[in-house]
Amino acid sequence: MNILRYDSKKLFLELEKKREWNILAIESSCDETAVAIVKNGREVLASEIHSQIEEHKKYGGVVPEIASRQHVLAIDTLLDRTLEKAGLGLQDINAIAVTCGPGLVGALLVGVSYAKALAYARNLPLIGVNHIEGHICANYIANQELKPPFLCLVASGGHSHIVHVKGYGEYALLGATRDDAAGEALDKVARVLGLPYPGGPELERLALTGDPLFFKMPGSFNAGEHYDLSFSGLKTAVINMIHKYEQKGQEYSREDIAASFQHWVVEVLSEKTAKAAEKFNLDIAIGGGVAANTALRKAISEKAGGGCRIYFPEKWLCGDNAAMIGCAAYYRLKRGQYSGLDLNADPGFTLF
Ligand code: KG4
Ligand code: ZN
Repeated sequence: MNILRYDSKKLFLELEKKREWNILAIESSCDETAVAIVKNGREVLASEIHSQIEEHKKYGGVVPEIASRQHVLAIDTLLDRTLEKAGLGLQDINAIAVTCGPGLVGALLVGVSYAKALAYARNLPLIGVNHIEGHICANYIANQELKPPFLCLVASGGHSHIVHVKGYGEYALLGATRDDAAGEALDKVARVLGLPYPGGPELERLALTGDPLFFKMPGSFNAGEHYDLSFSGLKTAVINMIHKYEQKGQEYSREDIAASFQHWVVEVLSEKTAKAAEKFNLDIAIGGGVAANTALRKAISEKAGGGCRIYFPEKWLCGDNAAMIGCAAYYRLKRGQYSGLDLNADPGFTLF
């Protein structure tokens, strides 16, 4: 095989002449293997997701080595299924997109290697995509009329960012968590409450019958005039509270703890997002797994008032999926940004 046969610039220039771009996208940054085909950035022809939750549940969180192996096992079948659902063959695909970071290095490598092999074998342009950018771009699929500029809250298991989306692929970070991500804090408290992984949706269910004002917000960091966030103090205070109850053999309501912890996490996220949107006079979009939370959606709607439009992606577009990666890749390609076969997994890949 002659690796020099692959010329990404030439492939991109050829592709530029086409009016219809079917991008095949792969996502494998954490515990979901996902493949999607996205036409012209916003039309999802097929999107398949294989969740590994059952494999990780017994360990109470994602085990990186297991995640990598599961991606290897799932990816071939998932590709076949996605092509079949879209009614397409590989000959109909014009470009290959893949998440190259941030995420678990072994997990990312599975997707990146697979995407590179596909791009090389089919002689197609390759686009490495940042996972956080994918979560932002999920909003373009959910809301066909959405165009930058807008403000996006990205709240996932690994990140909590408030982002000013200035243009396609043009971002300014207004605020970020100084410690735990919102999803990470929810998962940790859920675990102490004896809930299975991933804790966010389980905690949301338990919170439905609890008192959201059972305890007050400890600490003052989140009250400052800035858009950074912090969840670690709140998380530690709640975990200590649970341990104290247990040490003293005192009864407590798991529902009340779940409801009040979720309430304060939601309060921090929604307050900061609404404040930033007001200050910069921007509409609001949200993304990432935590964006599926109903209490968060409600709080953002209430706090932002009628001052701006709010875009909520459907729940499947909040969690990890490959359609969002295909969308982000389309806007990168349109600006002539593509990768070579030296693309590598970058667990610390930053967008800002
Ligand atoms: O975006 P995502 O699927 O993966 C990462 O990029 O991290 O986000 C996963 C996170 C987990 O922490 C999970 O508990 C949380 O999103 N999550 C939720 C809900 N659904 C998922 N948190 C709160 N409420 C939910 N309904
Ligand atoms: Zn994610």
